[in-house]
Amino acid sequence: MSAEPSHDVESGPRGGPPPPAVGLTGGIGSGKSTVAAYLKSLGAAVVDSDEISHRLTGPGGGAMGAIRAAFGSGYVTTDGALDRDSMRSLVFADPKARARLESILHPIIRRAADAELARAQGPYALVVIPLLYETRSYLDRLGRVLVVDCPESLQVRRTVARAGLLEDEVRAIMAAQWPRWRRLQMADDVVWNGGEEEGLRAQCDRVHRSYCERALPSSTIPANPRPGR
Ligand SMILES: Nc1ncnc2c1ncn2[C@@H]1O[C@H](COP(=O)(O)OP(=O)(O)OP(=O)(O)O)[C@@H](O)[C@H]1O
Ligand SMILES: [Mg+2]
Repeated sequence: MSAEPSHDVESGPRGGPPPPAVGLTGGIGSGKSTVAAYLKSLGAAVVDSDEISHRLTGPGGGAMGAIRAAFGSGYVTTDGALDRDSMRSLVFADPKARARLESILHPIIRRAADAELARAQGPYALVVIPLLYETRSYLDRLGRVLVVDCPESLQVRRTVARAGLLEDEVRAIMAAQWPRWRRLQMADDVVWNGGEEEGLRAQCDRVHRSYCERALPSSTIPANPRPGR
């Protein structure tokens, strides 16, 4: 028998059902990563689809064989990672190529996220999915959705400052995402990130408490997720 305790206080018996899953979404630069990092520091189990996607498309990542087969070696760097600059140019110019890339990535990301969610330990799992509503690819797994919202002018300013993109480039990305009002209309919970980080943290404290106290619907991971679903 293992010397390890068979359960912990926060998440119940190991090997039991996964904790309830809360989706976190928002437009580019709205503050998703900031909110996720803070909720993680409070105890949420974070499953980050951007991180998973980076890992799968990094050197020797699980998506690279399929990407090489579909697009050729011209989109693969010498160390076996996705050549992000070349692929970004291609998918901006060619919607069919974008659809092809997404049809490769989405099912693999989803399976990896399912696996992380099944292993998650905590009062709830926070699943960060930037294009949650646009792709609808993970909505059926989630008990609730938290949207982080801020004015578009701030999304642009923060993304330009952080990512070194031009304003026009950020606005082009925003034009391909849902507008704020549609996201807000769908949200179960909203945190407003139009002010100081201190105010954002106070709102995060409140939603965290409510997720810990509330009887959230369990996440609905099938025992054996079928590929592509
Ligand atoms: N309330 C705030 N005040 C000042 N700066 C902020 C605030 N919230 C976020 N930021 C900064 O804005 C930038 C974007 O925030 P963050 O990375 O959390 O957004 P995101 O939604 O994850 O972005 P992306 O869509 O690019 O992943 C970061 O540099 C972050 O430190
Ligand atoms: Mg982010």
